[in-house]
Amino acid sequence: MTGLCKDRVVIVTGAGRGIGRAHALAFAAEGARVVVNDVGVALDGSATGEGPAAQVVAEIEKRGGVAVANTDDVADFGGAGNLVNTALESFGRLDVLVNNAGFVRDRMLVNLGEDEWDAVIRVHLKGHFAPLRSAAGYWRAEAKAGRVPSARVINTSSGAGLLGSVGQGNYSAAKAGIAGLTLVAAAELGRYGVTVNAIAPSARTRMTEEVFAETMARPDSGFDAMAPENISPLVVWLGSAESAGVTGRVFEVEGGKVSLAQGWRHGPPVDKGARWEPGELGPVVEKLIAGAAEPEPVYGAN
Ligand SMILES: NC(=O)c1ccc[n+]([C@@H]2O[C@H](COP(=O)([O-])OP(=O)(O)OC[C@H]3O[C@@H](n4cnc5c(N)ncnc54)[C@H](O)[C@@H]3O)[C@@H](O)[C@H]2O)c1
Repeated sequence: MTGLCKDRVVIVTGAGRGIGRAHALAFAAEGARVVVNDVGVALDGSATGEGPAAQVVAEIEKRGGVAVANTDDVADFGGAGNLVNTALESFGRLDVLVNNAGFVRDRMLVNLGEDEWDAVIRVHLKGHFAPLRSAAGYWRAEAKAGRVPSARVINTSSGAGLLGSVGQGNYSAAKAGIAGLTLVAAAELGRYGVTVNAIAPSARTRMTEEVFAETMARPDSGFDAMAPENISPLVVWLGSAESAGVTGRVFEVEGGKVSLAQGWRHGPPVDKGARWEPGELGPVVEKLIAGAAEPEPVYGAN
């Protein structure tokens, strides 16, 4: 414990379980005051009647930390506003927003229903935008009042969003959207003292422990690489004042590994200087593909 986030006020969404819970505990251990948000749904987003946010608050308090629970739905605009207000009313400020909440409804595209599409796009993509919108409004007002913040947003994308994942069309689209939103938010909010980055984590939670049972298994001894607690140190550092120079980046994190994802880039063009005939383009496309790096395989593709 170094007190890296001493007195900072941090919202972590979906912090009642899994990776979000680990973030909340790690921020509190570094001296932050934490708003632990979780609506307490099942893995597919259905209601459970559980209250995991309050449990995590109790855990933080037991360790001598400071936290408050919030049970709003992050994808609801009113709920997201209330979440930001919880931070302001409880602690008088907001420094860090960690967007992490979400659930999955996996299906092959030909079986993917409208409800499954809408629910997953909503909870991840709108569930990132709504709290971001609320927090950004507060930070802009602070900056305009001459109190330029040292604010941080850490979004949660996924390898599925960066490379695609078979059976997760809805989730992959939402997570790719989050990577795109991160770039725009970083470009727009820098002037208000806000950095915006994203992570693509991999860890053992209820979301992964059955589907990837072998990869996620806990070893009998030694470093438990897939423990969700391994994701949080980078997120805590990104949430600290120290990370001021880093924005618009997507980090992959797993066990002790941290890497920077390399995003889309313009490739070298072929320019005719005039409109192409459709029939001319076969060899042109062939040449472009021959000169380009092979794309990385989609997760789960044979
Ligand atoms: N586990 C992995 O390997 C992995 C990989 C890539 C990305 N992710 C992402 O990491 C994040 C955390 O996932 P996890 O693996 O810890 O899953 P998890 O199911 O353990 O935790 C997610 C939490 O979000 C909460 N939640 C769901 N909808 C909510 C809503 N509308 N409002 C507030 N809270 C809500 C749930 O109740 C749950 O406690 C997710 O965004 C997930 O997509 C996880």
